[in-house]
Amino acid sequence: MPLERTLVVVKPDGVRRGLVGEVISRFERKGFRLKALKMTWMTREQAEQFYEVHRGKPFYEELVKFVTSGPVVAMILEGESAISVARIMIGVTDGRKAQPGTIRGDYSLSILENIVHASDSEESFYREYKVLFSDLEVVSDY
Ligand code: CMP
Repeated sequence: MPLERTLVVVKPDGVRRGLVGEVISRFERKGFRLKALKMTWMTREQAEQFYEVHRGKPFYEELVKFVTSGPVVAMILEGESAISVARIMIGVTDGRKAQPGTIRGDYSLSILENIVHASDSEESFYREYKVLFSDLEVVSDY
């Protein structure tokens, strides 16, 4: 089983609703190791880079506005099959359709304001984490 890293971001709705500890706690209890953690308020430029694959989609402007509407808490997590396991733990995009027991299934009733983001592939992880972290902010093995 591959040791992987993934990026998880608690979005502005999750921060506003006081769910940061809950999200971190779920990933820690699952067995993931935190490699980096920060609170930051994304600029429009960062949001555009972060969501560049969605540029041109009908919800793009709304998405950029939402993700820059308040601070986010971003983390890099490491563990076995981190990318696919984190995606299972957050649930499908639309909080109304996400399974109970998943983060979105338990806390969101919206497709836009869905509490949390997690990278969907290794390629996305490398692109996304560089928008929010410098390599100096990622700790070495412990
Ligand atoms: P995320 O997993 O961060 O990836 C892209 C984000 O765009 C998604 O979560 C939602 O916040 C948002 N999103 C995706 N599809 C829609 C949609 N149809 N309408 C509004 N927002 C969307």
